[in-house]
Amino acid sequence: MTVMKVASPLNPICVTLALVTTASDCFSGDRPEPTWLIDQQRCMFCHKLDVPHRAPSFQQIANRYRDTAGAEDMLEQKLRKGGEAHWGKNAMPSAIERGGGALSRDDARTLVEWVLSQ
Ligand code: HEC
Repeated sequence: MTVMKVASPLNPICVTLALVTTASDCFSGDRPEPTWLIDQQRCMFCHKLDVPHRAPSFQQIANRYRDTAGAEDMLEQKLRKGGEAHWGKNAMPSAIERGGGALSRDDARTLVEWVLSQ
């Protein structure tokens, strides 16, 4: 197999995705969707991108926090450890409670950046 030269930095997630799908976005310079993390952490069980479901939509969340200083740190903590409710009565469960396993700071940050880009 010939090795294609692709744009750097070479993201291993993109390489994996490109092998199994047609993830052409990975090579266009756009940030890739962290799909495997979203699946592993079951985000879409409660959230949808554009309409409220069991939780506020990711677009609502992005609109609320996109320009708020410090929001990324707060949300990173929330994705990992849970925290008080900001939208209604039900707080967001911690990573362990959601059943997707422990979430590292880096992975939490990746998810927060993805949510805020919606
Ligand atoms: C079991 C249901 C459930 C799952 C699974 C879930 N969420 Fe949530 N999420 C909620 C609820 C409920 C809220 C609203 C909590 C509140 O009022 O602050 C919320 C709020 C949020 C917020 C805004 C928090 C705030 O302080 O305003 C973000 C960001 C978020 N979720 C991202 C995610 C991501 C990313 C995932 C996957 C890692 C995920 N959620 C998985 C139920 C869930």
